[in-house]
Amino acid sequence: MKAEFENYHETSKNYDNTRVPIGTEILLGCFASNPCPLQEQTILDAGCGTGNYIRALDGKVGMLVGLEFNEGMLTQAREKFQNNPNIRVDLGSLLDLPYEADTFDGIMCNQVLHHLNTEKADQENFSPVRRMLAEAYRVLRPQGVLVVNTSSHPQLFDGFWWADLIPAAVDRIARRFPRLELLVSMLEESGFNFRGNIVPLNSVLQGGNYLDSKGPLRKNYRDGDSTWSLATNEELEHALERVRTMNEDGSMARYLEARETLRRNIGQTTCVFARKDEKLS
Ligand SMILES: C[S@@+](CC[C@H](N)C(=O)[O-])C[C@H]1O[C@@H](n2cnc3c(N)ncnc32)[C@H](O)[C@@H]1O
Repeated sequence: MKAEFENYHETSKNYDNTRVPIGTEILLGCFASNPCPLQEQTILDAGCGTGNYIRALDGKVGMLVGLEFNEGMLTQAREKFQNNPNIRVDLGSLLDLPYEADTFDGIMCNQVLHHLNTEKADQENFSPVRRMLAEAYRVLRPQGVLVVNTSSHPQLFDGFWWADLIPAAVDRIARRFPRLELLVSMLEESGFNFRGNIVPLNSVLQGGNYLDSKGPLRKNYRDGDSTWSLATNEELEHALERVRTMNEDGSMARYLEARETLRRNIGQTTCVFARKDEKLS
């Protein structure tokens, strides 16, 4: 197994304090485009982490299956759902899905794509992402829906207020995110019918803690986004110094407002919606 750039064995313990599921109404709307009624659908959460999105969809679809390869995350998710007969969490990799063909009515893959491209050599070709899409296509039933919840490059730079403090780290993480146009062409090459991009403009991944002007000074706040783990010590120190100074000299409120004006226009995440439709001959 390849090394992860974020240590999820550690951050899994704090993950639910730093992240909330967003765009779940978009996910449900996309899944509802499948002729099979939502209450009869079996949905895979590919890279489910601690199971936040599973919990948000619990009771709204028939059956939910989480797949996760990090044992810290997996343990948290299994503890949450141990008494729920409609939820199961499996150990395994998105690159080699441990399921037969035509198993699921829908698949969601929330904020995972950038964790697949760990090797430098993969970063231009995005071969793990291509492989994940081929696997998703294989395990979906005909007319099954795939929603990839990711971020566009402009969202990475301007959808997170503090991204401006660590631009080199954002640049590094952006190389792990396929641009949306490339993702769409990879989806089509895998056989999917691309249906559209939908942005939850009014939600942030960090929930109510997002606008904490001193948040970046605390490690548990920074643990909520893997971009921070790509900053060098020097870059981090420089960013924290700016945060301290702006809080002290009273310029932070204006700075946050300027950053928020950008975010409100582009959002933090994009749901890329595709379907396994019949091929037109
Ligand atoms: C940023 S977290 C997102 C977790 C969850 N989807 C959410 O949005 O709350 C990324 C997750 O993807 C998992 N992951 C990364 N690569 C994976 C792979 N190849 N197979 C299974 N899980 C993977 C990581 O362990 C981590 O839990």
